[in-house]
Amino acid sequence: MILVTGGCGFIGANFVLDWINIVKEPVIVLDKLTYAGNINNLDSLRHSPELIFIKGDINDPPLVESILTQHRPRAMLNFAAESHVDRSIRKPDDFIHTNINGTFCLLENARQYWQHLSGNEKEAFRFLQVSTDEVYGSLTAQDPAFSETTPYHPKNPYSASKAAADHLVSAFHHTYGMPTLITNCSNNYGPYQFPEKLIPLLILNALQNKPLFIYGDGLQIRDWLYVKDHCEGIRKVLADSPIGETFNIGGNFEKTNLEVVHTVCNILDQLKPAKHSYKTLITHIEDRPGHDRRYAIDSKKIQTKLNWQPTETFESGIRKTIQWYLDNLAWFDTLKNNNHYQNWINSHYKESAT
Ligand code: NAD
Ligand code: TYD
Repeated sequence: MILVTGGCGFIGANFVLDWINIVKEPVIVLDKLTYAGNINNLDSLRHSPELIFIKGDINDPPLVESILTQHRPRAMLNFAAESHVDRSIRKPDDFIHTNINGTFCLLENARQYWQHLSGNEKEAFRFLQVSTDEVYGSLTAQDPAFSETTPYHPKNPYSASKAAADHLVSAFHHTYGMPTLITNCSNNYGPYQFPEKLIPLLILNALQNKPLFIYGDGLQIRDWLYVKDHCEGIRKVLADSPIGETFNIGGNFEKTNLEVVHTVCNILDQLKPAKHSYKTLITHIEDRPGHDRRYAIDSKKIQTKLNWQPTETFESGIRKTIQWYLDNLAWFDTLKNNNHYQNWINSHYKESAT
């Protein structure tokens, strides 16, 4: 079996659902269930004998040790993180606790566990760190896309904490020979994304006839990848990569935030027409401090070495995603009425708008 941390969050849940469906190998999910973790994301596996769920913190050494000793996973995949840049700007503390110290705790326990394995078990063990393209910093319009050799240059507390974690993972490989892998992926979108991130927030606000907030001029660029393509990339890296390698994963679908919001509005205008086009809700507000201007991923390495390709274009993936949210309004409703979520939206956007 494998151990997946953060398996109740957006990407982790998609990964676990696909893993059990496609690979059919048991999974232990370790998740603290922070505001971003939602056990209902794994509802369809509620009665599955393949899923073991443990509520807990990755930064709890005795807990991590006992999980490894008891369940003896053949691989650990770390998706657990504080993941929202705006929250990291307001209050970085949890980002240090989970993204840096939590990753260190997993690595230390993995090291003890791995060192005591032998034979095939030791040979086969892997520690895979799920990371982000944001560790590379920000590009200008003319810069080439990030490759695996681009130096790290993180510019906000979230990306700095993820960069620190990646450095620890690499250091454990170089120092102790640990069989680690790192994936650095671009912006994901798809089912089960917490509606504080751009795309699900736009959909949720549009459906409630609320403003669609765009920071600054909206010409910042992100490279968007459908979440299930990211999950497939991770499966390929885990299965086929030599140890110690890093892979960039991206869709090569660079879009400005204005292009994204227009696309979302156009599709909603077709699928759920309102009196006026949803575009009338677009509202520019003060820019994010230190806002990274452009991210772009060069994913040639994973394409050529591991034969990975995205299956969705941005146009097909975003349409599927919007249809999923329309078909799962009950999923939105529970979050919409959650006090913690409402407080974030009210305070963040009220202050941004002034
Ligand atoms: P998310 O915020 O939706 O989910 C994070 C999950 O981790 C939640 O279930 C949460 O409860 C859990 N968690 C947080 N702190 C924990 C702790 N201390 N112990 C145990 N569990 C804890 O995040 P996501 O968007 O699914 O991102 C998953 C990973 O992928 C992160 O490492 C993120 O940096 C990376 N990533 C995200 C994107 C993206 O676009 N969302 C892109 C590239 C990489
Ligand atoms: P986000 O989904 O937070 O991802 P990240 O900051 O990790 O790339 O934001 C994506 C882009 O959308 C980013 O340039 C910030 C911008 N954005 C807005 O313009 N308005 C919003 O309300 C949010 C949440 C993001």
